[in-house]
Amino acid sequence: MADIKVVGVVGSGQMGSGIAQLAAVDGLRVWLFDTDPIALSRATNSISNSVHRLIAKGHLTQASNSVENGEVLQRLHCTTNMEDLSEADIVIEAIVESEDVKKKLFQDLDKITKRSAILASNTSSISITRLASATTRPCQVIGMHFMNPPPIMKLVEIVRGADTSDETFNVTKALAERFGKKVICSQDYSGFIVNRILMPMINEAFSTLYTGVATKEDIDTGMKLGTNHPMGPLELADFIGLDVCLSIMRVLHAGLGDSKYAPCPLLVQYVDAGRLGRKRGIGVYNYAKATELAKP
Ligand code: NAI
Repeated sequence: MADIKVVGVVGSGQMGSGIAQLAAVDGLRVWLFDTDPIALSRATNSISNSVHRLIAKGHLTQASNSVENGEVLQRLHCTTNMEDLSEADIVIEAIVESEDVKKKLFQDLDKITKRSAILASNTSSISITRLASATTRPCQVIGMHFMNPPPIMKLVEIVRGADTSDETFNVTKALAERFGKKVICSQDYSGFIVNRILMPMINEAFSTLYTGVATKEDIDTGMKLGTNHPMGPLELADFIGLDVCLSIMRVLHAGLGDSKYAPCPLLVQYVDAGRLGRKRGIGVYNYAKATELAKP
């Protein structure tokens, strides 16, 4: 089985930064690549703060031998040059949820990474088989779907494409378990397990708001107290990112071919308006000001 010593992560947003943190805390060398240098510097700050908080709470002392904040950051190398991923044993992609953009990236990664490297995608919904088809190593392409935020959430959903080898699956599963995660395995169908169930619920919450059934607060309170969810669906959508939710709904709609997966017009409108959720300071809720925007 391949020995993973160096991890490449592509995309330093919410998910990529969390995945890079997990690997660096675990003692692995990490190359974190993003085309946007500002995103990289945000990621370094957020990793440093998060590791600091986890150390202060005593959550990291048993999990790793060398988690001093400085040591973790020393193992983390940020870059805007994709070629720096050439020494990685596994590259985990966490860029925008667009099949065309991801396929182009997988094509490029296939050219610059070593032949033995595994190419994993953190995609929420896009076909691993189709991403693999952009490479010359489909047996080494796999879905490694972390939950948000990766350092905290216990689950990794592993998705096998049509040609993913047993060795690729075993190495990827072992890495997730080394990060302290519980692994579930999904076949390669739109949305896999978690988002196939979660996203239609979020979309329905938007429709409930859109058709004036209730206020956003009552929808969220209803689902929190009525079904014991830690966050309401609209709050959760803001946390995930409304652009990510919309992309996933479009993948479900196209891939499963049922009108019940059509994205709610209100979700589409919010994304068109740049209301992408917490990461932009505004989504369903306004995080920048105490008062919220006018109701839709
Ligand atoms: P994000 O918008 O926070 O970050 C994406 C990052 O990728 C940005 O920093 C952007 O500059 C960078 N990027 C875009 N295109 C690139 C390229 N071609 N090369 C290098 N960097 C590029 O997005 P987020 O939320 O981290 O999502 C990333 C992936 O993770 C998506 O596939 C999403 O579906 C998946 N995901 C998201 C979850 C969530 O709750 N947000 C949960 C689980 C998976």
